[in-house]
Amino acid sequence: MAYLLGIDIGTSGTKTVLFNTEGKTIASATAEYSMQQPYIGWAEQNPEDWWEATCTTIQQVLKTSRVESQEIKGVGLTGQMHGLVLLDKNNQILRPSIIWCDQRTDQECIEITEMVGQQKLLDITANPALTGFTASKIMWIKKNEPHIYDKIAHILLPKDYIRFMLTGNYATEVSDASGTQLLNIKHRDWSIDIINILEINAEWLPKVYESQEISGVITRRVAEDTGLMEGTPVVGGGGDQAAGAIGNGIVESGVVSSTIGTSGVIFAHTDQIIVDPKGRVHTFCHAIPDTWHVMGVTQGAGLSLRWFRDNFCVQEKEIAQLLEVDPYVLMTQQAEHVEPGCEGLLYLPYLMGERTPHLDPYARGVFFGLSAKHTKRDMIRSIMEGVTFSLKDCLMILEELSIEVNKVRVSGGGAKSSLWRQMQADVFQKEVVTINASEGPAFGAALLAGVGTGIYNNVQEACNHTIQEIEHHSFCKEKGKIYSHNYSIYKNLYQNLKDTFPLLSLNK
Ligand code: XUL
Repeated sequence: MAYLLGIDIGTSGTKTVLFNTEGKTIASATAEYSMQQPYIGWAEQNPEDWWEATCTTIQQVLKTSRVESQEIKGVGLTGQMHGLVLLDKNNQILRPSIIWCDQRTDQECIEITEMVGQQKLLDITANPALTGFTASKIMWIKKNEPHIYDKIAHILLPKDYIRFMLTGNYATEVSDASGTQLLNIKHRDWSIDIINILEINAEWLPKVYESQEISGVITRRVAEDTGLMEGTPVVGGGGDQAAGAIGNGIVESGVVSSTIGTSGVIFAHTDQIIVDPKGRVHTFCHAIPDTWHVMGVTQGAGLSLRWFRDNFCVQEKEIAQLLEVDPYVLMTQQAEHVEPGCEGLLYLPYLMGERTPHLDPYARGVFFGLSAKHTKRDMIRSIMEGVTFSLKDCLMILEELSIEVNKVRVSGGGAKSSLWRQMQADVFQKEVVTINASEGPAFGAALLAGVGTGIYNNVQEACNHTIQEIEHHSFCKEKGKIYSHNYSIYKNLYQNLKDTFPLLSLNK
């Protein structure tokens, strides 16, 4: 038998999943780690934690599956995008990684725009300078931590650090490299022009592969430590959104995906480069050669519900442990007892600033419309509704760019809740469907490994072979009217508050 391994270096943890070539999950293991927030809007993680979680989960998967390591034909890597990993000339980690949702680099984005020019940035990288992206994080280190900057020998993205540890190679691939703001999106390689303007040493950057290409093989040392076979190919893989889209079968126009993980993303495949002149959605290389994708990203999707769970649902967590269910199941059960619209309670999910549609690092989370009648369950439902409104913002921009949206495939932790799936159908007023595969990015990365090692001829064939639609949610027009009323208030709220949010950061 042949098997494929997908490794997803997520924000809340690393998930390693073994699949057979029919796409069936054989074994899966997850190891969690923390995120440090030294100041409001800052977010860092330790690459050592990702590596430890990778080794532990590979060992667990091999143990529980009882699959022989020589039957694993390829490894695909995926993970959180944009994070900055810095290594010195001895490959030692120079500082914790500044990760995707960190918002400290507003000033550096202004400087990058001035140095490169707004139009040139859009022409080459297809995106405006954003706090989430890697380039502004490099510039921040240059200005604020010159002693670290002077020692840089290698710059890697989170999953590419894990690739380095697995294979010894410094490499990345087009989809994740797109989120650095240093890639020429059309030529699918580093932009020497941008790199020179920002005075970044090109030798620090890894080689760029297509996502399905083999980028290295498992070293003997890693084979001894993890149980994988020495020489097993590791393909490029993809940023979590591109790999997740492969895992959802978003490989042609018309079907888009909506993923509620820590972040929330609406993702569309495109055959050509489509750029939002206002930069509200990202245009990146897709993990399929000669194709691109457009995605809207909301920073605090699952993150909002997790924040509420950890701070206000201690009781639910305890009961969930006794019942051996996920605390989110108990929380969403409570939300089911609340009518759509939460009797006028609204939530803005801007706990980590916001990208689409506002591109505003200063935005903050808001509950609006609380009355003495509202309870915890109203707050849970309003969080779910607010996150869904934010995804609707993303969807509306795709439609504004004339990207076809016939139906929406839902995935991520949020798609486990039938309430949240139906809410998406009713808020978007679109058919929402689920598919048989639920492992998202890890599955997409494994499929890319299957293409790179010749098990499938191409990504489309891999998806057609393994992915089927299962459940269809049609939308309700009546509920749509209620949501649409609240959505218009939701939109106004940000407009009314946007000049006030920056005043709060004076409290830092
Ligand atoms: C995409 C993005 C997030 C992170 C974490 O641009 O920033 O999706 O990759 O999931």
